[in-house]
Amino acid sequence: MKAVTWHGKHDVRTETVEDPKILDPNDVLLKVTSTAICGSDLHLYAGSIPEMRSGDVLGHEFMGEVVETGANVSRIKKGQRVVVPFCIACGECYFCKHDQTSLCDNTNPDAHKVEELYGYSGSGLFGYSHLFGGYAGGQAEYVRVPHADVGCYVIPNGIPDEQVLFLTDIFPTGYQAADQCDLKGGETVAIWGAGPVGLFAALSCKLLGAGRVVVIDRIPFRLEMAREKVGVETLHLDKDDIYERLREITDGRGPDCCIDAVGLDAHGTSLHEMYDKVKRAVGLETDDGTALRQAINCCRKGGVVSVPGVYGGVVDKYPIGAQFGKALRMIGGQTHVHRYLDRLFDHVQNGVDASFPITHRASLDEASDLYETFRTKEDECVKVVMRP
Ligand SMILES: NC(=O)c1ccc[n+]([C@@H]2O[C@H](COP(=O)([O-])OP(=O)(O)OC[C@H]3O[C@@H](n4cnc5c(N)ncnc54)[C@H](O)[C@@H]3O)[C@@H](O)[C@H]2O)c1
Ligand SMILES: [Zn+2]
Ligand SMILES: [Zn+2]
Repeated sequence: MKAVTWHGKHDVRTETVEDPKILDPNDVLLKVTSTAICGSDLHLYAGSIPEMRSGDVLGHEFMGEVVETGANVSRIKKGQRVVVPFCIACGECYFCKHDQTSLCDNTNPDAHKVEELYGYSGSGLFGYSHLFGGYAGGQAEYVRVPHADVGCYVIPNGIPDEQVLFLTDIFPTGYQAADQCDLKGGETVAIWGAGPVGLFAALSCKLLGAGRVVVIDRIPFRLEMAREKVGVETLHLDKDDIYERLREITDGRGPDCCIDAVGLDAHGTSLHEMYDKVKRAVGLETDDGTALRQAINCCRKGGVVSVPGVYGGVVDKYPIGAQFGKALRMIGGQTHVHRYLDRLFDHVQNGVDASFPITHRASLDEASDLYETFRTKEDECVKVVMRP
């Protein structure tokens, strides 16, 4: 079959690879009908995540039709159209039972590697390195889905692919980022990053009752999308004094909640940010803390800093003093996608447009060019969807 494979920094190819097979009685095989490139794939593309191997099949945002089912699969049937959360959950461990499926204890065969770094490992992830199970991803014609009865969600009422594809990741990720802010109604939320995750976080803050939502980035067409398609306010990272502007609109207090939807490959231009670049280049720091530090600094006392942006290792000059001194609550994590799917299917069925970030539609053959376009944000690229 055809699949998008990783070969090193900025080297992604569309190649013929072996077809996936059922390896476990709980597996199903999907014929992929739609798949997307995620900001998280850009960390792999940038070479920021270790334990990738040449030829690994990429992709963790995918959906399709079930073409084969393993002997133990009972809920999911051949011919059904399903979406699949990017985190793989067993459904039976302590964490799955507590609705924290991205922390599943049983789906990462590489857990020992992560334990050395973190103490304990989260779940296995599709298409996301041999730190997280080495599972082949879904930027392919076919994909194997383990624990299929837990991981496949049947699409109700023939909703078209583009309205449900992002339920695999970025919509629930934006929603969890907002949910973790514990909004009671009327709060001001500032969001760093107007990428697909930041945009879905903004939409979700509105759905959950925020009073005012401000999205911050430096890419004009992405800020425009935030204003026009999500109906929120925006600030320009380089042209506006972010701290001052946020202070002004909150009676001098700062936003109640700050969401970092940028993560470890943040870009900046100030002296602090050059420091991160140099330290990362010589291996003294793994992650760029530019967006995170600003979010912590801007947040009001007693506020929440919610971090959907991915971090993998260590950030230098982490402002623990500000976090402590302002009594901030900090929460991050891979998304517990399963937790949110019923709610988000309801929103889509009630008319929320979950396809709004799509700017590029293509076939798998164009993946190499589109990874580059998505990385550089050229051609007004916000979100790429491929149809195998
Ligand atoms: N927690 C999860 O489960 C989960 C799931 C999906 C994606 N993510 C992560 O969310 C993050 C965003 O994903 P995306 O798909 O929106 O990516 P993206 O690359 O399309 O968007 C990131 C945006 O951040 C902007 N940016 C860069 N530096 C900035 C800064 N210092 N301040 C403000 N904005 C800045 C960029 O211009 C860009 O528009 C990534 O780190 C991704 O890995 C996490
Ligand atoms: Zn993703
Ligand atoms: Zn589990």
